[in-house]
Amino acid sequence: MTEQTDQSMHIDPYERNWIRVAVVLLVVFVVAITVAGFGLGFHLPSPEERVDPNALDEHPVWSDPGLRVMEPGVYEAYVIANVTTFAWEPREIEVPVGSTVTFHVTSRDVQHGFLIQGTNVNMQVLPGHVSTLTATFDEPGTYPYICTEYCGRGHALMAGSITVVEE
Ligand code: CUA
Repeated sequence: MTEQTDQSMHIDPYERNWIRVAVVLLVVFVVAITVAGFGLGFHLPSPEERVDPNALDEHPVWSDPGLRVMEPGVYEAYVIANVTTFAWEPREIEVPVGSTVTFHVTSRDVQHGFLIQGTNVNMQVLPGHVSTLTATFDEPGTYPYICTEYCGRGHALMAGSITVVEE
């Protein structure tokens, strides 16, 4: 009887080590998710900000996509993805060097991705949702923005650019 109890309590050293590895990994994942979500502000697409993709042209803001000056050096950019033309609306944005731009991006039709090369801006773009991220442009130059989700035949052509100019 005692022998049987000993048997059932016995954990092979290899198994014990793998249990330790699994517990350490769980802790690492929980810490990584906590830091990313609360510290760095990464979020899943959420229904925080919604817009009717079929009524963008009647919308007070989205009917006129493009750049808005909030104060000197601070901008809001409204960008729409369009699968009919495989283009971003607008295709070009120009800001002075040192500007901080908050990008609000939505889609008229299907899922797209919005990535600005050389910045931390990289987000999914879904019809009905508004994706938002902010970037600061401290170096003059051209920053292309491209589509990162396959959206159809013209996907590879779907690009625009931000020009950061010296004042
Ligand atoms: Cu839009 Cu790929």
